[in-house]
Amino acid sequence: MEPSTETNKEEEEQVVTPWEVAGKDGGKIDYDKLIDRFGCQRIDQSLIQRVERLTSLPAHAFLRRGVFFAHRDLTEVLDGYEKGEKFYLYTGRGPSSEALHLGHLIPFMFTKYLQDAFKVPLVIQLTDDEKFLWKNLTIDECQRLARENAKDIIACGFDISKTFIFSDFNYVGGAFYRNMVEVAKRVTYNQAVGIFGFTGEDHIGKVSFPPVQAVPSFPSSFPHLFSGKENLRCLIPCAIDQDPYFRMTRDVAPRIGYHKPALIESLFFPALQGETGKMSASDPNSAIYVTDSAKDIKNKVNRHAFSGGQDSVEKHRQLGANLEVDIPVKYLSFFLEDDAELEHIKEEYGAGRMLTGEVKQRLVQVLTELVERHRAARANVTEEMVDAFMAVRPLPHMFD
Ligand code: TRP
Repeated sequence: MEPSTETNKEEEEQVVTPWEVAGKDGGKIDYDKLIDRFGCQRIDQSLIQRVERLTSLPAHAFLRRGVFFAHRDLTEVLDGYEKGEKFYLYTGRGPSSEALHLGHLIPFMFTKYLQDAFKVPLVIQLTDDEKFLWKNLTIDECQRLARENAKDIIACGFDISKTFIFSDFNYVGGAFYRNMVEVAKRVTYNQAVGIFGFTGEDHIGKVSFPPVQAVPSFPSSFPHLFSGKENLRCLIPCAIDQDPYFRMTRDVAPRIGYHKPALIESLFFPALQGETGKMSASDPNSAIYVTDSAKDIKNKVNRHAFSGGQDSVEKHRQLGANLEVDIPVKYLSFFLEDDAELEHIKEEYGAGRMLTGEVKQRLVQVLTELVERHRAARANVTEEMVDAFMAVRPLPHMFD
């Protein structure tokens, strides 16, 4: 196996699993440590430039600014692409809530860029089964949420001629199920405990789930798309908390005749209250939702966004803001497109010439625009479009 979290002393300090994200002593996530422990690579400047060369496009802001900061085997995917070998993208969402927050949109916004830039097909898994197993929800409710979330995902602008969205309850079976069983047979219970931290009290539904998230990494799980293309590589954009699933997948892949899936992994989007982990679905004031009104956004940013500014204007003019802990600047660095403006704000705010109120005002504008745009796009997604994206069908133009 690749390195797991199992025997590492540091695990007591910082916890990152698909179900729990917590910094050491309630502090920030140490991403360098995470990279070391998981055994992935940092994305450096030369890799970003290579992506720009190969796509003839400027890199997405998430890539330029280190939001997607780590990878596994991205170099191999690009080597193949350079030689004319295409690949496919795989990402997903666990439908546990009606409304998505901004953190949920990040992987989809980035995946949309990758699809357009590389002109490749994409499969999106809605793990309604996972959420039934982990949350206190009925199967019906999980299936309903999967469809609702599909609308938000479609609203991100995916190309229907290159995109297949599926829910596990509807799609698992056939070739997909055969691959699940091939994977399941090659992961011992002890390995699963080491990777995911299952305990004796966990029900066996949880133990049985990881192969479901693993096998979309293999082209043969989608015979209607990739029949005869069993050698196609897979690239998975995701937040780094999903890494355990794919460590397991990468260990098994070569033993059943597939490439290891490549990964491109993001930081967590911080809560409004400050950078201590992922946003929490249970505290509505910790996040901006795509359903928030302009007024909600304004209130949340003004009241709850943790500021790195000084307590008094006098002190602020003198010392400047602490940009390291400032949430408005963090959020702007995710969502303000203009590099020059972002640099200007950091400089002025850091030097104390700009006040927190001004930075928050700009952030409110940026987020309101983003949310309004999303809402308008989602309102245009019909039930028929959801059916069309989720139809099991060939995609004849997926590599054009
Ligand atoms: N487990 C993920 C979640 O709870 C959903 C998911 C399934 C996923 N397959 C994926 C996320 C692939 C990223 C990449 O949200």
